[in-house]
Parts: sequence; C-alpha cells; structure tokens
Amino acid sequence: MKVICPQCKKEHNVDESKIPAGATVAQCRACGHRFPLFEPAATQDAPKPKTRRIGVTLSKGGVGKTTTSVNLAAGLALAGFKVLLVDTDTQGQAAYLLGMKPKAGLTELVTGELPPAETIVQARENLWLLAGGRSLAGIKRIIDRKDFGGELTLCEALTPIEKDFDFVIVDTSPGWDPLTVNVLFYVYELITPVSLEVMTLQGLVEFLKSLSSIQKYRADVTLNYILPTFLDKRIKNPDAILDRLKDLYGEYVCTPIRYNVRLSESPAYGKTIFEYAPGSHGSQDYRELVRKIAGRPDLFA
Ligand SMILES: Nc1ncnc2c1ncn2[C@@H]1O[C@H](COP(=O)(O)OP(=O)(O)OP(=O)(O)O)[C@@H](O)[C@H]1O
Ligand SMILES: [Mg+2]
Repeated sequence: MKVICPQCKKEHNVDESKIPAGATVAQCRACGHRFPLFEPAATQDAPKPKTRRIGVTLSKGGVGKTTTSVNLAAGLALAGFKVLLVDTDTQGQAAYLLGMKPKAGLTELVTGELPPAETIVQARENLWLLAGGRSLAGIKRIIDRKDFGGELTLCEALTPIEKDFDFVIVDTSPGWDPLTVNVLFYVYELITPVSLEVMTLQGLVEFLKSLSSIQKYRADVTLNYILPTFLDKRIKNPDAILDRLKDLYGEYVCTPIRYNVRLSESPAYGKTIFEYAPGSHGSQDYRELVRKIAGRPDLFA
C-alpha cells in the first residue's frame, strides 16, 4: 500500500504484511515525522467509490446550503437516481424541509446504537434521509475523545452503507467544527453556495484557506462547484459580484439560483420546491443544477 507523509509528502510503498498487528502510528523515514496510520480503506490509494459523495458547505451561515442540499437531492431522485441525503447539522433542518420527523438518524448510525436500516428513512421515491439534529453533539464528543483518526469517523460510518446509492449529498452546519472536518474527509466533491453579497465572497476566500489546510492530508477532496445564490436583480447590482466570481473561479461557477420567495415558503409546508411550486424560478434553477451535477443536459426535457 502507498502511504504519504503528511509533512514532507514523501510516498512510501509499505508492505502491508510487515505492519505489526495493532500498529496505529507510522514514522516517515525521510523526515522523521510521526503520524496516524489510517486503515487501508482511508489511504490515498483507496479506489474511488462509484457512489458520488458530494458535500454542500461554506462556513458562513444562511447562504442556502440546506435549501440546496434538499432540493438537489430531491431533484436527482426525481431524475431517477438513488440518493441519500445526510444532515450533519445540529439544527436538523433537512428533515423539516422534507416534512419529516425521524426518530433516528446519523447519530445512531455512527454510535452503532441501531442497525443502519433503522437509521435511514425513506423520504420520497428514490430519496433517503439520514437525519441530523441536536443529538449530533454526541458524535462530536466521540470524535474529540479519539486520540487520532477522529476525522475519519463519518467516513467509516457511511462507507459501508453508500453502495446502494448513486449520490450521497451531505449538508453541513455553518462554522467549522469536527463534523465539518469529517465531511471533508468523506466527500470527493464540494458545492459551495455563495450568496451574492460582498461579505460572502470574503467567506468563500476564508473557506478556501481552511479547505487547503485539509487538502494537505486529503488531496482527493476538491471544490468543483461554486453556486451563486440569492441572485436578485431588483435590489442590488449582483452582476458585478457574479463577474468577479467568474473571473476568479471560471468554469467552477454554476448558473445562479435566483432569489425566489417560493424557496423560502416551501419549508413550512414540508415540501421540496418541485412539489410546492414546480413552475417557479426556484424549481427551474434547481433543475438546472441537477442537470449540471448529473452531467445530463437532457434531464427534465
Ligand atoms: N434562492 C432563495 N430565495 C429566497 N429564499 C431562499 C433562497 N435560498 C434559501 N432561502 C431561504 O433563506 C434562508 C436560509 O437558507 P438555508 O437554510 O438553506 O441556508 P443555510 O446556509 O443552510 O443556513 P445555515 O448556515 O443556518 O445552515 C431559509 O429561510 C431559506 O428558505
Ligand atoms: Mg443549513
């Protein structure tokens, strides 16, 4: 197996049969740095799973992460993909947006309190939910108590159950906490919603700095999609910000999600935008996002 020193980046080809049973720490022969020896499934040369793991994240709050996670997941499910939506936020909003009150969710999966089948609830045809909520604080404590490898807790819990799904979409909380770091050690692709306000552009720059510190240890996670949200031509001049985003991040920038009051109304009815207002701008914009993420311009034709 290939082990890469997180400090000097030297690659070592290690004969797995020579690793002593129970060994947990490796030492780089080149620079002497000691670091956790991860399970083979989590090393850099682990094969990429066929399931697409996508995180929706930005440290700043209220930019449309949950709205995007839920409607993207629902849109992919409508298009016929099997989708698991994972809520890693203690606010537990994903279940609310889908009109559900599950008794169990991600916490029980990670702690092993319940078998996986009892933690995942079917929300719609082709769409399943691993709910978040206040109990996630318990997972954060589990992560904190681990001497090393805490950042792989979520990856270890989700990897065995993901094979039945085409997509796993992971919603994250605002801020930067142990669960956010865990999400970055699980997903391969990231969507970052950016509200079209100058302050949030700064939020993106901050987030990219934090992301690059994670990428030193997990090169596989990349920001693939920057999603401008709250595009509102009536009250400000968003084109300048959008142009700036395109200058900086080019083809990573997706077609924006317009400000749409239907998107803010639908959670109170426990409906996705496709159910609540299928003809709305919000519905059109999230359908476009589904086409982009799936790489299928023909969808919903
Ligand atoms: N395009 C939009 N047009 C109008 N309202 C929107 C739009 N997107 C999201 N909203 C509303 O804005 C609020 C914040 O959105 P959302 O909860 O998705 O953000 P968030 O980034 O998940 O927030 P948090 O960081 O608190 O988790 C919600 O009330 C939501 O209904
Ligand atoms: Mg949210």
